[in-house]
Parts: sequence; structure tokens; C-alpha cells
Amino acid sequence: MNICIVGAGYVGLTTAAVFADIGHTVYCTDRDSAKIDKLKQGIVPIYEPGLTEMIDKNQAEGRLFFAANVRRHMRNCPVIVIAVGTPSAKNGSADMKYILNVIKDLSLVIRSPKTIIMKSTVPPGTADWVDELLLEYGVSSDIYELVSNPEFLREGSAIEDTIHPDRIIIGANKEGAAMRVKELYHPIDTRFLLTHRVEAELIKYASNAFLATKISFINEISRVCDAFKADITEVAKGIGMDNRIGPKFLQAGLGYGGSCFPKDVNALSYAASTKQVKMDLLQAVKKINRSQLNIYLNKLNHKLGESRDNVRIAVWGATFKENTDDTRYSQAIAFMKILTKQGYQVYAYDPLVSPPIPSVIWCSDKYEAVKEADALVIATVWPEFIEADWGRVKQLMKRNIILDGRNGLDKKMMKAYGFEFTGVGRP
Ligand code: UDX
Repeated sequence: MNICIVGAGYVGLTTAAVFADIGHTVYCTDRDSAKIDKLKQGIVPIYEPGLTEMIDKNQAEGRLFFAANVRRHMRNCPVIVIAVGTPSAKNGSADMKYILNVIKDLSLVIRSPKTIIMKSTVPPGTADWVDELLLEYGVSSDIYELVSNPEFLREGSAIEDTIHPDRIIIGANKEGAAMRVKELYHPIDTRFLLTHRVEAELIKYASNAFLATKISFINEISRVCDAFKADITEVAKGIGMDNRIGPKFLQAGLGYGGSCFPKDVNALSYAASTKQVKMDLLQAVKKINRSQLNIYLNKLNHKLGESRDNVRIAVWGATFKENTDDTRYSQAIAFMKILTKQGYQVYAYDPLVSPPIPSVIWCSDKYEAVKEADALVIATVWPEFIEADWGRVKQLMKRNIILDGRNGLDKKMMKAYGFEFTGVGRP
């Protein structure tokens, strides 16, 4: 099948690579011609394990093409996948400007039957709204079918998640359209849920909101653990042994970040509010996530004492989690900003990024960052942090305070090295 992907971001690029890899001919398009030029040369603008290799292979084998002429490929391909961003607007709603551009482009080129697949994360009711818009732009509803097919990939494991998804959700008005989209995924072996479009749209938002809730829940329990001198990692293990709860997403830490959870929690709350539904639970989820950083700032302040004169804090990790170069809504960066505002000197290191942050000094390796440091904060769990030479770290630091903000380190081992160790909910 010839497929046109609109938008060469995380979702668009991964979908393009995987669809090409399973045998389709894919035209991955983006209005950003500089980005497309780079992709043609095999330069992938994001760090995602396995993605570059899969793109190279499928470009070389003639199944994957990159193009800046979006309309031309929309016109020629029977299947169009919309994978543009829906960032947060100021009021928390999903900003639909990129979707709107795509719909305008589409309206100009639809001359033959199309299956349009909405992969962007969009608010409930979007599919019906797009139908109305297209009609307004003079496109008859007989010539296309709009199917909602949300994407659940995680950054850092995007390829793996796309090849081996837990499920594929297809929301369509007609069974025939749903089956056509299901057929595209052959030979991916997974469970399919064929449903209506608005339900598919809500499944995406509700999934992300539920996962964010799970994280804020375990972070709140970690506070109780601190108070009762219990270890959250043991408590989480025991909770997770209940099949109804499951062990995943129960890792207490400095809170969730990234381009999806904060945005989608806001967008779902906003969408509900337009129908006079107040999402109290999600407000609490957000509040816990925000306050998590303050709690750990207070703990550091307490350990470091009153003076800020020449007090150095090393921070390892800047992205919103390990295995990505994405710093959007990163709690690590939020924490660095709070620390500098408090008057601390922050020396930071990340294996992939060094974004300019006022007063933060970037170091070229992790050992340089801890030199003469009073405290070390682990903000993401890259393997190279877990496997650090702790004897060397101890020697290089001025004082021995460690805050493991992701509970990735072995508490006993850290004590054996002589560190004053604080984890999240691990007194
Ligand atoms: C998420 C969803 O998992 C994915 O299904 C959706 O398509 C996009 O949003 P992603 O943002 O890539 O994916 O990252 P994810 O691995 O879910 O982590 C999000 C944040 O939660 C990170 O900051 C991570 O550090 C944090 N997290 C995750 C925890 O604090 N504890 C956990 O147990 C799990």
C-alpha cells in the first residue's frame, strides 16, 4: 500500500519506518524542508534507539521516501496518516493549528478515495469536527473515511513499542474502514480493539492520564513511606504483585515529564471542562507532580545547611527520562532551575544534551560534574550513572551527599561507599 505520513516527528518517523519495514511504500512528509533534506541524507533529528538503522535500511531498499511536498503525496496516496503535533495552548487545551493546516491541505487535494488515519493525539470529538471542516471546504464525505488510530509509543523504545504494541486501537464509523486500517498492520501480531472514533480518541487521553495518576499515586505513597521509615521500592514491589494493579509505572521519583503526560493531562481536563465536567483527580495528580520537586529541595536544603556560599550541586541527567534526548517538560531541568534560584552552584552532565539554562555549568563528563561537589542529584537513570565508579565519585566530591531522584541506585552499596544517601521514599 502507498502511504503518505504527514509530520516527521517522533510518531510520524517511527510509523513511517515501521510501515516501510513491514512492506508498505511510505512517503514521509513534513513542511520543514531543512528537516526533510537531512532525513534524505540519513540524518535523523531525534535520538531514538534503532530508528536511524531502520530508516537507512528502508530508504536504501526503496520503500521509504522523504518529501517536503506534502500535498503532492497526499494527492497520490490512498492512505494518509496524520502525525503532526498538538502542543499545549496557554489555557491547557490541545492547540489544533497544525491539524487545521493539514485539513486545509487535504481539502485542496482529495480527488480520489482516501483512508485518513488520525494518529496525532487529539481531543474527543475531533474526528467529527474534521468531517464538518472538510464539508465546509467542499469535500464530500463519500470520498474519504477518517479513522482514529491513536499512538501509544514511548520515547526511547518507540520502535520496539510499534513492532510489539500491547494493543492497536482503531476507531471508525464503518467496519470496512476499520478493517482496511487493521490490514495495514499485518503482520504485527497484537490485540486489536475496533471501536468508535470518539472512544478511540478518549482511550488515548485516558491511558496517559491513568499512567500519570499511577506515578503521582506512588509518589504520594513514597511520602508516607518516608514518614513511617518504610522503603517505597519494597512497597511498590508488593503492590505490583497484585495482577489487578501490575508492577509497571510504580517507580517513585522526582515526578513525570515529557511531551505527553503533562500536555495530555491538561488537554483532557480542558476537554472535560467544556462539557462542565470537573476532573478533581487529575488536578491532584498535577499538584503532586509539581510539589515532588519542592519536597526534595527541602531535603537537600536540610542536609546542606543554611549557607549557599560556594555550595556546589552536581546534577546527572537533564532529559525527561533516560534513553532520549528530549528535554520537554523535564523534571530534571525544572529541578536545576529551582536549585540555581536557591543560590546553589549547579554543575550538570547528561550523556546527550546540554541545553542553555541560566547559571547552570555543563560538564563534559559525569566525573567532572562531581568534582568538589557538596551533593550529587541523580535526575534520570541512564545506565552509565548506575554503573559509575562510586569510589572515584566519593573521592572527587567535597561532601558525600547523594540524592537518588529515580531510585536507581543500590542503597546498601551507597552506604558501604560512605555516602549520605537519600532516595525517594527510602529513608
Ligand atoms: C508516554 C506513554 O507511556 C506513551 O504510551 C505515550 O504514547 C506517550 O507518553 P513517554 O512520554 O515517552 O510515553 O515516556 P514514559 O516512559 O511513559 O515516561 C513518562 C514520564 O514518567 C517520565 O518522566 C518518567 O521518568 C516518568 N515515570 C515513568 C516515573 O516517574 N515513574 C514510572 O514508574 C514511570
